[in-house]
Amino acid sequence: MDKHAHRKDEHVFIAEKQYQINATNGLEQVRLLPQTLPEIALNEIDISTTFLGQKIEAPFFINAMTGGSKETDKLNFKLATVAKETGLPLAVGSQSIALRFPEAKAGFKKMRQLAGPKTLLLSNLGAEHSFENCLRALEMLEADALELHVNVAQELTMPEGDRSFYALDNIKEVQAKLSQPLLVKEVGGGISPLALPKLKAAGVKYLDLSGKGGTNFITIENERRKEKDHMFLAGFGLTTAETLLGAKPYHADFSLTASGGIRSALDIAKCLALGADNVGISGEFLHILLKEDVGGLIKRIENLKAELKSVMALVGCRSISQLQQAPHLLSPELLSFEAQLKKY
Ligand code: FNR
Repeated sequence: MDKHAHRKDEHVFIAEKQYQINATNGLEQVRLLPQTLPEIALNEIDISTTFLGQKIEAPFFINAMTGGSKETDKLNFKLATVAKETGLPLAVGSQSIALRFPEAKAGFKKMRQLAGPKTLLLSNLGAEHSFENCLRALEMLEADALELHVNVAQELTMPEGDRSFYALDNIKEVQAKLSQPLLVKEVGGGISPLALPKLKAAGVKYLDLSGKGGTNFITIENERRKEKDHMFLAGFGLTTAETLLGAKPYHADFSLTASGGIRSALDIAKCLALGADNVGISGEFLHILLKEDVGGLIKRIENLKAELKSVMALVGCRSISQLQQAPHLLSPELLSFEAQLKKY
């Protein structure tokens, strides 16, 4: 248990240490076209939408991070309070530690009580976990939905990581049997467009593309390794902007979450203009929580909601569905990325 709890603590510590190191989510290569004469008032703008079949008051949520060790349980309790106060959905980090070690369950079991009955709570496990484990994770959290993460690059960078990667049949089985919504996600490396037809065939409806540009588990696991003499897989992965372009042909098939390096209302608006239905935020919220505690994070989230309305005013959008059609321009690099994808 100690080894696994220690890993949880290290992930939080190193994610914060690496906050904002040379990361780009690609969204600086996307430009929203301003209206100049938007003919709109801020109080006409509605940022509510639906996520996993439920109404939510803003198109973003607190994405999976942590839980299962003493220190990380404390962070999760704070996040539960933030979710309750702000109305944002909240995903916990992987619960696999609590399936192996019963003593790690208690923290997860407290989350529903702290988040309140109305908060949309998401369980989290690796995509190789059996349907029975998925049920145990959901029950432990009294969760509304389940996230299953895929993280091949992270596992390969971890000396103690998995070395065999068969997950698709399991995802298909969980999707078929589960009564709660299932969301399949990456952890900041980006879901490739090559995986989308496979996930579609498996019946998956909710995807978090979780691209490169924020928290980076390749650099985190390199830092955790004893031999730090070289950086394995440096730069590998698809940015948040690239994952969204890669998913364009699949807008009718999936409800899309964008995540990876989201730090501002402008980032959120750009993701939605590129076709995302909502946005997940981890590293940025962790950073604010560690620096400014619960009050600071609540304030930042309420500011983000207000700032999103301001960005929507600039581009003349009254609703999230209008924002998803907002005129935008791509850099030559992103255009080339999109054109080259057509080969595959
Ligand atoms: C994560 N993330 C994550 N994802 C997941 O599915 N299960 C997990 O256990 C974790 N653990 C975790 C720990 C910490 C400390 C962080 C910061 C993140 C990944 C997270 O949900 C998200 O996909 C990526 O972090 C990219 O988003 P940001 O952090 O760039 O906003």
